[in-house]
Amino acid sequence: SWAHIPLGPPDAILGITDAFKKDIHPKKMNLGVGAYRDDDGKPYVLNAVRKAEQRIIQDKLDKEYLSITGLPSFTKEAALLAYGKDSEPLQEGLLAITQSISGTGALRVGGVFLNRFYPYHKKIYFPTPTWGNHGAIFRDSGFEIAQYRYFDKSTNGLDFEGFMEDIQSAPKNSIFLLHACAHNPTGVDPTPQQWDQISEVIKERGHLPFFDMAYQGFASGDINRDAYAVRKFVSDGHRIALSQSFAKNMGMYGERVGAFSLITESVKEKAAVDSQLKLVIRPMYSNPPMNGARIVSYVLSDSELHKEWLGEVKIMADRIKLMRKKLKHHLVEDFESKLPWNHITDQIGMFCFTGLKPEQVERLTHDYHVYLTKDGRISISGISSKNVKYLAEAIHQVTK
Ligand code: LMR
Repeated sequence: SWAHIPLGPPDAILGITDAFKKDIHPKKMNLGVGAYRDDDGKPYVLNAVRKAEQRIIQDKLDKEYLSITGLPSFTKEAALLAYGKDSEPLQEGLLAITQSISGTGALRVGGVFLNRFYPYHKKIYFPTPTWGNHGAIFRDSGFEIAQYRYFDKSTNGLDFEGFMEDIQSAPKNSIFLLHACAHNPTGVDPTPQQWDQISEVIKERGHLPFFDMAYQGFASGDINRDAYAVRKFVSDGHRIALSQSFAKNMGMYGERVGAFSLITESVKEKAAVDSQLKLVIRPMYSNPPMNGARIVSYVLSDSELHKEWLGEVKIMADRIKLMRKKLKHHLVEDFESKLPWNHITDQIGMFCFTGLKPEQVERLTHDYHVYLTKDGRISISGISSKNVKYLAEAIHQVTK
């Protein structure tokens, strides 16, 4: 019998979409999951992706298994995108990399690998707060979770001092999970100067930085700018671990395309790490799906499609910035909210961490049919020119 099994809770993020779908109110808004929508509220498939799909069909490729670590033309392009073509470890052949089932899969493969081989600790440090799935991923990979200070509720900004103190006081050689850009859920990132300092102290303490880069290009509209932290740490000599996702920046959500990589110290070490990554992956899912990785590799390796994609990344990032401005404008100018709303435009990326309390979130959903996560995070992508004023009014009503 399975009678002993308790009913599990709905997922804190994906459960919101389920609740939203059941609502029949015409003004309902889904600001839960971080998935881009155009200004008509519709999912957006990038033109560069559509064109790559056409070419793939024309090329009549086979459906043989990929190798355990995925499509080489994809992992090569993914590495170039994250680390940059001038990256020394890349040029020297020191990067171990595998295709992954998007960002979650990259974190999980990385988690299992580190749990098996990282010699110092079975504990990982997360920012407070962090993405709702990080805890489960690393616990299921065998890690104990610890936290470092990150978000300062009093300013809706970064608690830089607390962050630095916690890096200092963690035991030497700890693993630190860092959001490379567009921190989820807060939308608050360190400045480049702050990253420089963070890199220095992490180096002094011998910590291992594990970057989660799910939003390269999405934060600023510029893929190089958003890769600042990753590239700076690498040039400072850190042997970083990196999770990449193409869900947001190429709109590949359901295709599940990502990569996990690790910088090693020698070609011999790289070969050993590659071989062990295979031993992690083979019993999990044998080898990854090919379609999404093919699309991404077609887009990134063709100069014309690559250029078109960069333009589309910028369009998405700019629309998000515009919605931030409009939301703040309506709150302050039309509804004359006296609360400070600067963080709406100061924060970056897919999300705004509004500061709404759980009771206010509940009222937004119950009275206004606006769906968001309990922590007060809103996915800006769910806002459009047509519903931004309605949202501002709803937020004003529950906060005044
Ligand atoms: C989110 O935070 O909404 C996204 O990263 C989607 C997800 O899988 O949770």
